Amino acid sequence: MTNAFSLYSTLKERIVRRDAHVATIGLGYVGLPLALTISEAGFRTTGLDLNKPRVDAINAGERVISYFPEDRIRNAVADGKFAASADPSDIGTADIVLICVPTPLSSAREPDLSYVIRAAEGAAAWLRPGQLIVLESTVWPGATATVIKPILERGGLRAGEDFFLAFSPEREDPGNAHFSTQSIPKIVGADDQKSRELVEQFYSQIVEKAVPVSSLATAEAVKLAENSFRTVNIALVNEMKVAFEAMGVDIWEVVSAAATKPFGYMPFYPGPGIGGDCIPVSPVYLSWRARDVGSSLPIVDLARANNDGAPELIAGRVNAELTADRRDGAKGARVLILGISYKKNIEDTRESPALAILNCLEKMGARCDYYDPYFPVMPVTRDHPDLAERRSVALTAETVASYDAVLVTTDHSDVDYALVAQSARLVLDTRNVFAALGLRPSAGRIVKT
Ligand SMILES: NC(=O)c1ccc[n+]([C@@H]2O[C@H](COP(=O)([O-])OP(=O)(O)OC[C@H]3O[C@@H](n4cnc5c(N)ncnc54)[C@H](O)[C@@H]3O)[C@@H](O)[C@H]2O)c1
Repeated sequence: MTNAFSLYSTLKERIVRRDAHVATIGLGYVGLPLALTISEAGFRTTGLDLNKPRVDAINAGERVISYFPEDRIRNAVADGKFAASADPSDIGTADIVLICVPTPLSSAREPDLSYVIRAAEGAAAWLRPGQLIVLESTVWPGATATVIKPILERGGLRAGEDFFLAFSPEREDPGNAHFSTQSIPKIVGADDQKSRELVEQFYSQIVEKAVPVSSLATAEAVKLAENSFRTVNIALVNEMKVAFEAMGVDIWEVVSAAATKPFGYMPFYPGPGIGGDCIPVSPVYLSWRARDVGSSLPIVDLARANNDGAPELIAGRVNAELTADRRDGAKGARVLILGISYKKNIEDTRESPALAILNCLEKMGARCDYYDPYFPVMPVTRDHPDLAERRSVALTAETVASYDAVLVTTDHSDVDYALVAQSARLVLDTRNVFAALGLRPSAGRIVKT
């Protein structure tokens, strides 16, 4: 029996018996749900994070992600199967190491693999024969093989022989009540058969379905294809919104009627622009890599430009509607931004279009405040650090009535839209929330945009 085969067989048996020790590097929106799901499947799991206060909060059973069931973290910790840690030496005792750290854009809006590289260096420092390392962060096709593998191999161990290397993209949809980490099929890819079999075996015991693909690059490409598909379709529906409006047609009615077609159509909804860590970022990774290999993706690039311009379009629309009410339009107007998260019911402002719109409006001379039940205080964000520390206003009839316009950018469920409809002078609704709730304005106007 070769050494590689013996290492493979030993790990496989431990996976089947569920006594392999798993470490996740990164306990964010992706790493924490994944670590909990793995521990709930019976594997002893250590969640590592550099952020010590977050580690302490998790170990204290605090609900650090708002949409989690109240005692999910507390139960996992109390069960003894899960613990958070800031001690990198825990990587050394793990049999399986999952890397779930951010992959944002650099200030030049290019792929920033610095977190992944740092995490891989951390894993390399503790790498031992027989471990399975799985990168989960979104990267460009080829990154695991050409960037991560050489880092892991620096100490002399070889992927596919001494340790095993796979890529399995995260498809987590934070706040989605219909799909969980466990029910979303998991793509698993590797460049050698042993790594592929091990990662497939592992995830088959965690999620309802593991979907093996033939290589690391294919698995990386799947994630970028999914997100670029969304990017293009969101750009398309926002473009159609403007054209249909000029024709006197309501895009929301069109989409909901078109969605009754049982094949060949998938509904995408208009909005104020795209946000989060995935949809605005993945197409940049894909496009960047395409250029790197002498190819191009003009449709994806056009969609990106369209989405990037969406906040400015919305700000322009606010200005136009205000001009109907006051001579100076947005200049000097008081505008209330309703919702700063990039999507409903989560506390995440990464790449949020609401903040970009707020910025545009203030450049036009508007005075903006915001209301968001998830953010009593505006967090520090990469793109808008100057907005940090602003405070959410209270949503009362008097407050709402004091603004020239209320702009709905995020349709959080826990907002009193009836109060807004009754008190606001002008509402601009980018999410169709008032029509969906059947709310009509009392004295002011509600404009879909
Ligand atoms: N958030 C989503 O909806 C989502 C969905 C699918 C895929 N993804 C992808 O998953 C990856 C992770 O995203 P996220 O949203 O979980 O990020 P996040 O910012 O919520 O969490 C990342 C965590 O990693 C920690 N971290 C960073 N470097 C570390 C290191 N070297 N060692 C230990 N901990 C470290 C940070 O402190 C942070 O807590 C990204 O590639 C992202 O594109 C995200």
